[in-house]
Amino acid sequence: MNLNIAVLPGDGIGPEITEQALKVTQAVADKMGHTLTYEHAIVGATAIDEVGDPYPEATHELCMKSDAVLFGAIGDPKFDNDPKAKVRPEQGLLAMRKKLGLYANIRPLTIFKSLVDKSPLKTELVDGADFVCIRELTGGMYFGRPQGRSEDGNTAYDTCVYTREEIERILHLAFEAAGKRRKKLTVVDKANVLASSRLWREVAQEMEPQYPEIEVEYMFVDNAAMQMIQWPKRFDVLVTENMFGDILTDEASVISGSLGLLPSASVGVHTSVFEPIHGSYPQAAGKNIANPLATILSAAMMFESSFNLKEEAALIREAVEQSIEQCYVTEDLANGGESHSTSEVGQWIINYIQQK
Ligand code: IPM
Ligand code: MN
Repeated sequence: MNLNIAVLPGDGIGPEITEQALKVTQAVADKMGHTLTYEHAIVGATAIDEVGDPYPEATHELCMKSDAVLFGAIGDPKFDNDPKAKVRPEQGLLAMRKKLGLYANIRPLTIFKSLVDKSPLKTELVDGADFVCIRELTGGMYFGRPQGRSEDGNTAYDTCVYTREEIERILHLAFEAAGKRRKKLTVVDKANVLASSRLWREVAQEMEPQYPEIEVEYMFVDNAAMQMIQWPKRFDVLVTENMFGDILTDEASVISGSLGLLPSASVGVHTSVFEPIHGSYPQAAGKNIANPLATILSAAMMFESSFNLKEEAALIREAVEQSIEQCYVTEDLANGGESHSTSEVGQWIINYIQQK
C-alpha cells in the first residue's frame, strides 16, 4: 500500500517528537511492505515567523492532497502574554480544523498497567478504565458568531452555535463508535441551562431508535467532570460539544498518569489529522528529553483509521507497551530511575519493530 503523509511538526518539541513518529512509521512500512512518501510543511508559531500565517495556504494544499497528516504541537510562550497579538499560533490549529472539516476529535484513554501508580487517582479506580471521548471540533463557541467586544470595549461575547446537521453527524459517529465497543454512549451537555445543549439532547433522543443496541445516557457536564474522576470505569464512549470536550479531555488525560502518552485523531470531511494530546512544551524544546510516545501512538491511530491497517497499528502499540514495561522511557516516566532521550526511546521502538 502507498502511504502518502503530510508531516506538520509545528512548534516547541513538535519537531523532535514527530521525527520519532515518522521513523517508527517508516520502520512499520518497511517491515509490512508498504511504501511511505511524506512531505513536511510549516504550521503554528514557526509559520507565523516565516510567512506571517499560522496555517499557510501551501500547508493546507499539502494536507488536502495527502492521505493523512501527522501533527506535532503548536504554541509559543511569546504569544501567550500579549492579549493584543494580532495573530496567534492557535488560530492555525483552528483554521486547519475548519478547512479540513475535522468535526470529530477522538481521544481514547488507555491505561498502561505498569503506570497505574503514576495516576493521581487510586489504583483500584484506574486499573481497567477504558473509555473514548468524542469531541465535536468545528462548532460551538470556538467558531460561533458574533464574537467580540462592544464599541467601548467593556463588554465581550462569544456565541455557542450548533445546527441539527452538525449535531447529527458527530452523534452518528459516536453511536457507531459505541457499537464497536461496549455499546454504551454518554451524551454530555448542559441542557438544564443552554439552548444549544437542548438541541443536542433532542437530536440524540430522536436518533436513539436507529441504534437500538446502544444504551444511551444523558449527563450534565459538571456531573460528568465529577464522575470521570470518581468512577472512570463507568464510561465507554462519551460524546460532547467542542468546549466541554476540550475541558473533559484534559481531565481525562491525567487519569492515565501521563499526558505524554495520549494520542488523538481528528477526522471529518477531508484528510484526517493525528496528533498527541499534549502541547508544545517549550521548556523542553531542542533538549531531546520530551516523551515521543503520544505521537508514536498517534501514528498507530493513523495506520488504523486512515489506512485500515490494524496489524501495523497493533505492532506499534505492542512496541510502545514493551518499552514502558521494560522501563526504557523518557524522564517523565522514569520515577527518578534511569531515563533515556527522545531519540533513544524512538530507536528502541524501531528496533523492537524490526526484530519482531
Ligand atoms: C486542544 C487545545 C486547543 C483547543 C487549543 C490549543 C486551541 O487545547 O487541542 O485541546 O482548545 O482545542
Ligand atoms: Mn485542549
